[in-house]
Amino acid sequence: MANTHVASARKRVFRGTLIHATKEEAVQVLEDALLGVNADGTIAFTGEGKELDRLCKEFAYSPSAVTHLEKHEFFMPGMVDTHIHAPQYSYAGTALDLPLLDWLNKYTFPVESRFKDKSFAQKVYTQVVRRTLRNGTTTACYFATIHTDSSLLLGHIADKLGQRALVGKVCMDRNNSVKHYKETIQESLKETRRFIAELLEKKYALVKPVVTPRFVLSCSGALLGQLGQLAKNNNLHIQSHISENVDEVKIVKELFPDSDSYTDVYHKHNLLTNKTVMAHGCYLSDEELALFRETGASLSHCPNSNISLCSGFLNVRNVLNHKVKLGLGTDVAGGYSASMLDAVRRALDTSKLLTIKDTEHETLTFEEVFRLATLGGSQALSLDDQIGNFEVGKDFDALRVNVMVPGGPIDLFQHEEPKIILEKFLNLGDDRNIVEVYVAGRNVVPSAE
Ligand code: GUN
Ligand code: ZN
Repeated sequence: MANTHVASARKRVFRGTLIHATKEEAVQVLEDALLGVNADGTIAFTGEGKELDRLCKEFAYSPSAVTHLEKHEFFMPGMVDTHIHAPQYSYAGTALDLPLLDWLNKYTFPVESRFKDKSFAQKVYTQVVRRTLRNGTTTACYFATIHTDSSLLLGHIADKLGQRALVGKVCMDRNNSVKHYKETIQESLKETRRFIAELLEKKYALVKPVVTPRFVLSCSGALLGQLGQLAKNNNLHIQSHISENVDEVKIVKELFPDSDSYTDVYHKHNLLTNKTVMAHGCYLSDEELALFRETGASLSHCPNSNISLCSGFLNVRNVLNHKVKLGLGTDVAGGYSASMLDAVRRALDTSKLLTIKDTEHETLTFEEVFRLATLGGSQALSLDDQIGNFEVGKDFDALRVNVMVPGGPIDLFQHEEPKIILEKFLNLGDDRNIVEVYVAGRNVVPSAE
């Protein structure tokens, strides 16, 4: 089992401000709180500071194992990036001048085809895992490429650096401009089976495979159907893209004239389950959202990408009203930033834009978006029994945030309330403020490497 040698170091108690989301409250603030972590990285207890002696005795912690947070510090749950393309990190921040389908052909497929080379993959994947961890992404749902061995390498790197991850070997058997970056249906299925078997064999504690048809335009109906079957037989997660761009939606209609909608194409191929996450969804109808709700499938809102590729806007309020599970995604490199703090800000901007267009639109609050970045993401990935907030029994995935870090991007002028401090961090903070990151109780930032 990975990292058992550090497990005993995980048993400790923290005292200070905790901020997290619950089902009832988008932002719950617990001041002078205690949080005990078990040796296995799960949360043993939470309580009030004054209960320190009693709780230490009850749970057999030495009072010297208590770490006190500073005045301008708090713990929040680690953020969940529900949609990110690891290979595309190599060109993040560039190539943002074309709409989706041209962008895929001109930039994305040629770059992804280079990941046949494992040494290039090693370089990029190490950096994307490091960068996202440092920016507070404790869980990432990754697309890799069609290459099985470098996709396995991404799983290995996430495990080694301590990030919780779902990793998908991408499947695509049609419509690709790059000759060598395509599979036959037989190759795609054989390699997907190998990817799943070999990743599961590693028995990584926090890294799991996800079945990944790229999107309807890249996959034949036969491939979609077989992948749906494979996911069902092995109770696996599924990820893909849906209804991101107008031209894409139009082509899906032409390719599958007998389906009622884009959502119906996935549904007919058994790809909508309560372990499915679909990115974008800008053009979904209310009927399609109802199908998401019925099947338990979720959406990943990727606002930076939606704007950067001029794709569209997701009306998150409408999605939430339909009670569809929803998290945030960076969608690197359609989205140029690998930071979930950027996704939080762009989600708020998009919501305000919808209010500018329609004053009846109910703008999202920063509290709601905080919930989406943490608890919402865990629900979207069906991991909310393990992560998402500081409920006892869940894994301790957390960020230690210091808003007054020397040389940092935030100024305070008086004694601000914790909620105001959270708001400043979400809007102004960056990785300098994320002084420690924990995943399943393991201190992964700063890293021991
Ligand atoms: N649709 C199919 N592939 C992709 C991709 O790599 N990025 C985005 N944003 N949309 C896609
Ligand atoms: Zn994407």
